[in-house]
Amino acid sequence: MKHETLCGLDIGTTKTCTVVAVNGSAGLEIVGVGEAPTLGMRKGVVVDLEETIKSIEAATERAERMAGIHFNEVIVGITGDHIRSTNNRAVVAVSGDDREVTPGDVRRVIDASKIINLPSDRQIIHALPRYFTVDGQEGVNDPIGMAGGRLEVDTHIVTGSSSFITNVLKCVQRAGLEALGVVFEPLASSAATLMQEEKQVGVVLLDIGGGTTDVAVYSLGSAIYTATIPVGGNVLTSDISLGLKTTLAEAEEVKKRLGATEKEERFDVRTLDGRATREHSTAELRQIVVPRVLETLRMAKQKIVENVPRDVVLGEIVLTGGGAQLPGIERVAEEVFGLPVRVGLPNTIGGLTDAMTAPQYATAIGLVLFGANGDREDALRAGRRGNSMVAKVQRWLADLWT
Ligand SMILES: Nc1ncnc2c1ncn2[C@@H]1O[C@H](COP(=O)(O)OP(=O)(O)OP(=O)(O)O)[C@@H](O)[C@H]1O
Ligand SMILES: [Mg+2]
Repeated sequence: MKHETLCGLDIGTTKTCTVVAVNGSAGLEIVGVGEAPTLGMRKGVVVDLEETIKSIEAATERAERMAGIHFNEVIVGITGDHIRSTNNRAVVAVSGDDREVTPGDVRRVIDASKIINLPSDRQIIHALPRYFTVDGQEGVNDPIGMAGGRLEVDTHIVTGSSSFITNVLKCVQRAGLEALGVVFEPLASSAATLMQEEKQVGVVLLDIGGGTTDVAVYSLGSAIYTATIPVGGNVLTSDISLGLKTTLAEAEEVKKRLGATEKEERFDVRTLDGRATREHSTAELRQIVVPRVLETLRMAKQKIVENVPRDVVLGEIVLTGGGAQLPGIERVAEEVFGLPVRVGLPNTIGGLTDAMTAPQYATAIGLVLFGANGDREDALRAGRRGNSMVAKVQRWLADLWT
């Protein structure tokens, strides 16, 4: 295997996180993590190159020190309001005389599905096969080796602004790293937190970060809709700071400790000048926090209602990202979606410490999962093992490199 060491780089709005994993005989195991505050990003996009580079360098250096290895190839997360998704379908004739579907046919049909009307300043980030159709037989996961003359694919296509993506990649490069590929962040978070059965039944993943809330909807095993809402947990902090007339630091602390809790409690916060304290109740706090959380989650719901066909069954909501830790958020999400809600912790990888089993690390860990077995020659063979999510990215990575 070419990439023994795999590295994920999540440049979030609030923190940059680098995760190093080794793909050994025991499977994928995390050997190093590094974190640093991010100052150069706003709502998922770079607003200050130098600051962003510093964050990447700091997080990466920490991860390298912990792992005791040096690396330079990373899989990079991308998000922001510029991302769009759509589904497409393409068809090709199976090429060989023996009418047996080959890896080359699969590559050709996925490539054909990438032919969409795209303005010149946008590029395709993913073309994830949802399922194949061979001679009219729908719902084929892996068509390679099947007999047939006509191969179709349904793909989930994710596109983004070329300049926003280039800015992220510039920072990565100037921090001395090479981007092996880019992954839309909620897809990475899903890889770390969702179980295959959930994706099969139908599930909505919401990654509530500092500056964005990323959405990924899965049905019948694959992503059918992805989006970003440019609102995250940071706005709650400024709402609380304004509402209780206290500093951002104090507001952040109150948010994390009490958030939208239903428990009745009184608490003190320092006044803005820091000289006195004032008493407030959790009822007052709820009046500030709940409307904003409702608003954000309703925006997500609205996007899903507008873009996901009505006949798609959705059984559950999974919340991840730092914002998923807000006390009381599950109840608010249940109210909005009318579905069971759980908090998704990254737990599908070895070598995790307790500290890393927290929702804010779902993206970074998921990026590593995406890169697992990321050898382009292996791409289609990985697909044959039916490891769908990873395999799809293998194909995408392979496509990117050819
Ligand atoms: N216990 C908690 N309760 C409420 N909010 C929390 C808690 N812990 C962290 N947060 C919030 O989570 C947010 C950060 O989450 P995360 O680290 O996932 O974001 P990010 O990846 O840096 O940003 P983004 O994904 O938007 O680019 C912050 O707004 C922070 O206040
Ligand atoms: Mg994030």
